[in-house]
Amino acid sequence: MNSLPAIDYQSLTGEQAAQQLDELSELYTQVYAEPPYGWGPEHAELFRERFDVQRRQEGYRLISAREGRRLVAFGFGVTLRPTTPWWRDLVTPLPEEITVERPGRTWALVELLVGASWRRRHVAENIHGLLLSGRQEERATLTVLPAATPAVIAYRKWGWHKVGDKRNPLPGAPVFAVMVKELR
Ligand SMILES: CC(C)(COP(=O)(O)OP(=O)(O)OC[C@H]1O[C@@H](n2cnc3c(N)ncnc32)[C@H](O)[C@@H]1OP(=O)(O)O)[C@@H](O)C(=O)NCCC(=O)NCCS
Repeated sequence: MNSLPAIDYQSLTGEQAAQQLDELSELYTQVYAEPPYGWGPEHAELFRERFDVQRRQEGYRLISAREGRRLVAFGFGVTLRPTTPWWRDLVTPLPEEITVERPGRTWALVELLVGASWRRRHVAENIHGLLLSGRQEERATLTVLPAATPAVIAYRKWGWHKVGDKRNPLPGAPVFAVMVKELR
């Protein structure tokens, strides 16, 4: 029989995640070097800097996926603070009922990625489910590059819908779609 090796999923605290930052950023660098991203070392450096802040934030949850000892995928996010800049940089303004934050209203899915050799095995789907399970927030939000077709198809399948577009303040970054998923 030709069965694939099992994938193990683990939830990490911010402290544990910090200890694995080199592995996480290595996978991040590999995945985002691919099209449609083509991102280089400056993005990986920004990832590390932001990660160090995000891992200490309210509602932080990171799920890693390993095949044996090898890190093959991960996803993480944080609860948005009422003063979050999340709803800034919108291409077209959105109504306040969408953009006004209150404590614990919204959880942001910051990152979700799977190494190229492990795709289409529902690894992202499992991580996504574990990240959102039991959350107390009303809704979740994320940004996605419209050209990242696999991600866009997956998010729609998992109940996300687009609410607008924004410019992500990354070097030379294009317009990202902002998506929301109701959690209640
Ligand atoms: C997007 C990504 C995380 C999906 O990971 P994955 O583990 O391959 O996804 P899954 O196997 O859980 O797929 C879930 C569903 O998404 C859709 N999907 C995923 N990849 C797809 C593809 N290449 N083409 C079409 N549909 C796709 C399918 O509906 C799939 O369900 P199905 O296989 O039962 O048809 C992965 O492609 C990736 O890491 N991409 C690069 C990084 C990225 O863009 N991350 C998102 C940032 S916002």
